Amino acid sequence: MGHPMVLNFFLFLIFFLCPAAISVFPVAKPGCQETCGNFLIPYPFGMNNTNCYRDPSFELICNDTYYNPPKPFWGSLEVVNISLLGQFRILVYVGRDCYNSQGTPTYQNYADFTVYNNAFTISNTENKFTAIGCDTQAYLSGLEGENFTSGCNMFSTNEKELINGSCTGIGCCQTSIPTGFRFFQIEIFSYYNHTNVSDFNPCSFAFVADYNWYNFSTSDLLNFTYNLDDRGYPRTPLVLDWAMNNWPTQTNISCEEAMKNQTSYACGNNSVCGVSNNGLGYSCNCSQGYQGNPYLQDGCQGT
Ligand SMILES: *[C@@H]1O[C@H](CO)[C@@H](O)[C@H](O)[C@H]1NC(C)=O
Ligand SMILES: *[C@@H]1O[C@H](CO)[C@@H](O)[C@H](O)[C@H]1NC(C)=O
Ligand SMILES: *[C@@H]1O[C@H](CO)[C@@H](O)[C@H](O)[C@H]1NC(C)=O
Ligand SMILES: *[C@@H]1O[C@H](CO)[C@@H](O)[C@H](O)[C@H]1NC(C)=O
Ligand SMILES: *[C@@H]1O[C@H](CO)[C@@H](O)[C@H](O)[C@H]1NC(C)=O
Ligand SMILES: *[C@@H]1O[C@H](CO)[C@@H](O)[C@H](O)[C@H]1NC(C)=O
Ligand SMILES: *[C@@H]1O[C@H](CO)[C@@H](O)[C@H](O)[C@H]1NC(C)=O
Ligand SMILES: *[C@@H]1O[C@H](CO)[C@@H](O)[C@H](O)[C@H]1NC(C)=O
Ligand SMILES: *[C@@H]1O[C@H](CO)[C@@H](O)[C@H](O)[C@H]1NC(C)=O
Ligand SMILES: *[C@@H]1O[C@H](CO)[C@@H](O)[C@H](O)[C@H]1NC(C)=O
Ligand SMILES: *[C@@H]1O[C@H](CO)[C@@H](O)[C@H](O)[C@H]1NC(C)=O
Ligand SMILES: *[C@@H]1O[C@H](CO)[C@@H](O)[C@H](O)[C@H]1NC(C)=O
Repeated sequence: MGHPMVLNFFLFLIFFLCPAAISVFPVAKPGCQETCGNFLIPYPFGMNNTNCYRDPSFELICNDTYYNPPKPFWGSLEVVNISLLGQFRILVYVGRDCYNSQGTPTYQNYADFTVYNNAFTISNTENKFTAIGCDTQAYLSGLEGENFTSGCNMFSTNEKELINGSCTGIGCCQTSIPTGFRFFQIEIFSYYNHTNVSDFNPCSFAFVADYNWYNFSTSDLLNFTYNLDDRGYPRTPLVLDWAMNNWPTQTNISCEEAMKNQTSYACGNNSVCGVSNNGLGYSCNCSQGYQGNPYLQDGCQGT
């Protein structure tokens, strides 16, 4: 007499609880952990075991000893978003140049950032170099084929000129970055050590970040407190483009070349190969009528 109820309860579990816990489409390789805290970690990214990610540049570390819920890291940098459309976002440190009201330097950090794998580049379509401050000379330099330097110079003692949401050179300045580079360094200087502006702007800040994410606020001139790490250091989201290659031997490989070796070819069944965002290597997409993870052998499933 009790059996139908038990059966119903099991059906309830299978149909209502499991879909919430397990994603509808396969995310990770079979036998590999597919979540880290609240994050889904889709292959070619993976954790724990060399079999679970495509090559070492896609290895993430799930830190479940220090963080609850656990957080994924790419090297030492926290991951905020992974898109199978060839982009991911990580938090990187902000360049800072701070002074007390007497003009004595209190904190200086010339941020730099390097991507080591050839298939990863800093996205020039999603990121901009942003500097904020009212006694500020901030420079971005990068090395990659063509070396470049760009920068922002701002001096303004009139707090009333500042406008929230307006990053046009008074208190906030933005410049585009070149395509396809993997290294940058930020340097920040001041004209008068912020002595003329110390009551509303003790520090200059500069960062390369997702330009859709940042919206200038005059309160940021007083203290910039986004994405603070455990030590209270601010971080901003940087967008990287990623692509498939045969690291480390063939770092810029076309679809035609890649398909010649089915063992190393990254695109699964029912998927198509295409040009990657950064023009390096290739990308995979599910064929029309299919959905899922094109980087898994049977990741693209009919809808
Ligand atoms: C993977 O690593 C995490 C963090 O160290 C650990 O909690 C988890 O149990 C590991 N998973 C597997 C399948 O080994
Ligand atoms: C987790 O994060 C803490 C604090 O940053 C760090 O000390 C620890 O080494 C990390 N653990 C792993 C497995 O990365
Ligand atoms: C991650 O990025 C994707 C694609 O850009 C977006 O749809 C999604 O909302 C983002 N998720 C988070 C948590 O930001
Ligand atoms: C102004 O700042 C520079 C470093 O940025 C420092 O070398 C110099 O001593 C400071 N000047 C004063 C008057 O504190
Ligand atoms: C870029 O700068 C580095 C270091 O300053 C130098 O070694 C390299 O030759 C430069 N490359 C070009 C193309 O100017
Ligand atoms: C940026 O902030 C300003 C004022 O704080 C607001 O009016 C504007 O809508 C914001 N823009 C975005 C894109 O969030
Ligand atoms: C800024 O302060 C310096 C001394 O700290 C002074 O020489 C300079 O005239 C001031 N500039 C303005 C525009 O107030
Ligand atoms: C800008 O926004 C911040 C935070 O919302 C607010 O404290 C500040 O007064 C605003 N500044 C201006 C000039 O409206
Ligand atoms: C800025 O904010 C951080 C984090 O909240 C705090 O530790 C620091 O003391 C603040 N600095 C100033 C000058 O208010
Ligand atoms: C990568 O190869 C493509 C052609 O396959 C070429 O157009 C592109 O310039 C190459 N990129 C680099 C950085 O060498
Ligand atoms: C095909 O790729 C596999 C795995 O990367 C590699 O071991 C093998 O040598 C490649 N075969 C040829 C013919 O290049
Ligand atoms: C997927 O591809 C593999 C090898 O490419 C093949 O053996 C397998 O039959 C395919 N599976 C489906 C469902 O098409």
